[in-house]
Amino acid sequence: KNILFATSEAVPFIKTGGLADVAGALPKCFDKKYFDVRVILPKYACMKQEWKDKMDYITHFYMDLGYKNCYVGIMHMEYQGIQFYFIDNEYYFSGPKPYDSAPWDLEKFAFFSKAVLSVLPVIGFRPDVIHCHDWQTGLVPVYLHDSFQQNEFFWNIKTVMTIHNLKFQGVWDVKTVQDITGLSDYYFAADKLEAYKDANFLKGGIVFADAVTTVSNTYAEEIKTPFYGERLDGLMCARANSLRGIVNGIDYDIFNPETDSCIAQNYNATTFRKEKVKNKIQLQRELGLEENPKAMMIGIVSRLTDQKGFDLIAYVMDELCQDAVQIVALGTGDERYENMFRHFDWKYHGKVSAQIYYDEALSHRIYAASDAFLMPSLFEPCGLSQLISLRYGTLPIVRETGGLKDTVEPYNEYEGTGTGFSFRNYNAHEMLNTVRNAERIFYDKKREWNKMVDRAMATDFSWNNSARQYEEMYNWLIGEK
Ligand code: ADP
Ligand code: GLC
Repeated sequence: KNILFATSEAVPFIKTGGLADVAGALPKCFDKKYFDVRVILPKYACMKQEWKDKMDYITHFYMDLGYKNCYVGIMHMEYQGIQFYFIDNEYYFSGPKPYDSAPWDLEKFAFFSKAVLSVLPVIGFRPDVIHCHDWQTGLVPVYLHDSFQQNEFFWNIKTVMTIHNLKFQGVWDVKTVQDITGLSDYYFAADKLEAYKDANFLKGGIVFADAVTTVSNTYAEEIKTPFYGERLDGLMCARANSLRGIVNGIDYDIFNPETDSCIAQNYNATTFRKEKVKNKIQLQRELGLEENPKAMMIGIVSRLTDQKGFDLIAYVMDELCQDAVQIVALGTGDERYENMFRHFDWKYHGKVSAQIYYDEALSHRIYAASDAFLMPSLFEPCGLSQLISLRYGTLPIVRETGGLKDTVEPYNEYEGTGTGFSFRNYNAHEMLNTVRNAERIFYDKKREWNKMVDRAMATDFSWNNSARQYEEMYNWLIGEK
């Protein structure tokens, strides 16, 4: 069976968030005997030259989009046994970053979505299922329903729409989107692309896809409510029968403290008691923190946005810094959060370290060095950082929402269970109390702490389980058991 992943980003070629990790890792985890899974994404000018050099040009043609006639180049590369296709168009994909702003991004990804379908007969790959990710590919099921039905090649291709983040929907006024997309009036009705008088790409994808998934069970439930539903909760309820949550995994080859070449000292579930701390000492030295192997280090690696709960952190940071903790933050995003961390780095020098940029290798060193990982998200479809932390024996401190709730088992002192610490309400002092509870266990009950690390490192969030669930869904869609 043939499966095509249509995505706007994939590791190692281009990444702005967890979607790239998913689209890069999951395709490798399907049973190769039954599934030929390929991936298609844009060829961005901002990709590393190294990758662009390795792509082969296949062919090009021209495609209509609204009033425009667009160049569609097809590039190809095999990477780790997976066939990757890249759509080339310098007009759309030459920016300094993959995403810019609406309505330009909408036009860009309308182009991409239509191109995804147009290239299939050209490369001779007929997918049984096209698996779309986020609003950028929301128009794939729509275009497939539309003009492509004239061609027998496309009959009976099924589509899946996976929501990685409902907050981003690809919205602009109807008139402009009609011009951009070339779709007829028929599609701009309240039961199709239109939502609250505007055109909405993600809504189009959800309405026209044969199945809808999101990246954790709890988030699948949450988005049926107004608080998490981003004004589409009604639609999510209406599609409840074909909506399911399948939790993300992480790439266990990339994230493995035993073999990770980015970290100072490798370790595993048996050796962490002696070896893990060497990473902490090394990182303290590297970042100019007080060199103290006994100090509890709390790591943060994140996009610095409201989603991730940074207003809670800002609110109690002064109080937290009175405690015997070190805080290491790596991230980029909203200016006020970047400046917030810079400020505390200056104010509590030697205790707080703010690294305001993107650095893959440093992120690994932080996951390995820290004792705990703080992620108090307002909402979290799945979250990968807490999974990486568990794998590195770094105990997550999270708010009980979305994937955080599904993947971190809260510590129960009486039963001796749990893999991390959690709190329920979006409240800064509830978070602070939870961090302080973690400090208490860390400093006063080291044996308990270490047993928790044992349990954390024994969890399995590789892609194995979840890949099987996607396989079942594909089979069900194709109509085979
Ligand atoms: P989201 O997709 O919402 O940003 P996830 O937890 O799903 O959140 O995925 C984020 C990924 O990006 C993780 O792998 C995390 O380690 C990584 N990451 C975030 N910020 C940075 C950064 N500044 N440097 C390196 N890696 C980062
Ligand atoms: C989104 C979500 C994050 C999720 C990731 C991959 O970026 O914010 O929670 O882990 O997608 O699915």
